[in-house]
Amino acid sequence: MNQVDTELAAQVLRDSGAEVVEDAASANVLLFVTCSVRAHAEDRVFSNIGALKARKRREPGLVIGLVGCMAQQYGVRLRERAPLVDLVCGPGRLGDLPALVEEARAGRRAEALDPPRTESETGASWSDAALDAAEIARPLGGPRPGSPGRRRGKPGQAYVVVMRGCDNFCSYCVVPNVRGRERSRAPRSVIEEVRRLVGQGARRITFLGQAVNQYRAEEDGRRWDLADLLTEAAAVAGPARLAFITNHPKAMTERLARVFRDVPTVLPYLHMPAQSGSDAVLARMNRGYTAAEYAERVAMVREARPDVAVASDFIVGFPGETAEDFEATADLVRRMRFAGAFVFKYSPRPGTAAERYADDVPIAEKRRRHKELLALVEQIAGEENQRFAGRTVRVFVEELAPRPGAKARAPKAGRLNGASPLPYNPQSEIRNPKSVQLRGRTPCHRIVVFDGPPDAVGTEVDVAIWKAGPLTLFGRLAGEDCRVGV
Ligand code: 5AD
Ligand code: SF4
Repeated sequence: MNQVDTELAAQVLRDSGAEVVEDAASANVLLFVTCSVRAHAEDRVFSNIGALKARKRREPGLVIGLVGCMAQQYGVRLRERAPLVDLVCGPGRLGDLPALVEEARAGRRAEALDPPRTESETGASWSDAALDAAEIARPLGGPRPGSPGRRRGKPGQAYVVVMRGCDNFCSYCVVPNVRGRERSRAPRSVIEEVRRLVGQGARRITFLGQAVNQYRAEEDGRRWDLADLLTEAAAVAGPARLAFITNHPKAMTERLARVFRDVPTVLPYLHMPAQSGSDAVLARMNRGYTAAEYAERVAMVREARPDVAVASDFIVGFPGETAEDFEATADLVRRMRFAGAFVFKYSPRPGTAAERYADDVPIAEKRRRHKELLALVEQIAGEENQRFAGRTVRVFVEELAPRPGAKARAPKAGRLNGASPLPYNPQSEIRNPKSVQLRGRTPCHRIVVFDGPPDAVGTEVDVAIWKAGPLTLFGRLAGEDCRVGV
């Protein structure tokens, strides 16, 4: 969501005549697009802003802006903690950015925040017209990674915001306070955007929403849920693949499970955060399901399509989490055999319901549980990944591998990590002297690292996997003739 906010901010500013530069040192307006989900993310922003003190003294005209959830969360109080900030803009007000920048450059107060949210609030008071317009106007990312033409996400792929806000009020979560009421975008607008993106060459489209499977809309007397939206989008998207994040377990339906089975271009990947495996903790989190119900929904999806990779988020050290509660979480991880999971240490957030619970799990214990659960998740993901060793998989190439120094080495023929030997073909590397390390994803969202030509970014290729680690599959191009784009 924050990445999309960043792209939208860049888009509205570009439309207003600003130049968006890659390099912060040459900018005269610096905008921080921020996250409030945990204190750690906020602390980093405060320290990054603090580090600009000397530059601000040297360049008094420099405008420093705080955009997104932290702006909405702190509002006008922000200036007490970050006096260098000249501009404050909430995530629902990105359309106001050009005017705000102008105000700030003229030395005036620049603030655009939505009114504070209350749980009982009704009616869509948060206006999205400007966001929808900017969203629709964003062109797809350029064909070459890092090229100045690059605008939207990574080449060949696009996020489409189908829902904004959230009404679930999980007790630990700041999102409903800072992103406002849950509202679904009009189906026609989403489908049109998908059609246009595919026309521009999109090969992977991800629908975004805080609880995307709660999507619901009514248009011309027809009711839509996410299953309808995906089915209709697939009909106009041709070969482009569709994904959707992130899913709330309480809203997982049979209808949506069937989409995995019936719509082949929907990717076999389900991110559905469990948060905990203890019913007592889940109840205090206000999640609206038990561990058994979570397991049932996963089973339902796997029955519809067995190869769906299920991923989760977990919070450890939630107020009152006992050793037994934590063990129940570990047990859920063992039973569900997740393809991956993010694990977070509970971080009390001002303005949330859980703030009234004592944050009573000591930090050392939170760290211990975090480490233990992460190790378990990785162990299981690693075991699950072994089935890919020795297989050739279709990979969507996302980008050049982030650390060019860390080159994966193809093993000698016959030494294939226990997997059946692959015909090792060094030809591809020899014929491609400009071969670089690439990073992509399988249809089930597993990361694959392999060597190949840079212009493969944004396309699909076949990759033979020679080694499967817990977080990454290592492979090599299955042969030059297999380098087919979709
Ligand atoms: N503390 C720790 N983790 C949190 N998350 C959300 N709020 C908090 C919090 N207060 C985690 C949840 C969510 C992910 C995006 O961040 O696991 O799924
Ligand atoms: Fe936060 Fe819960 Fe909404 Fe997700 S569903 S954004 S965790 S309140």
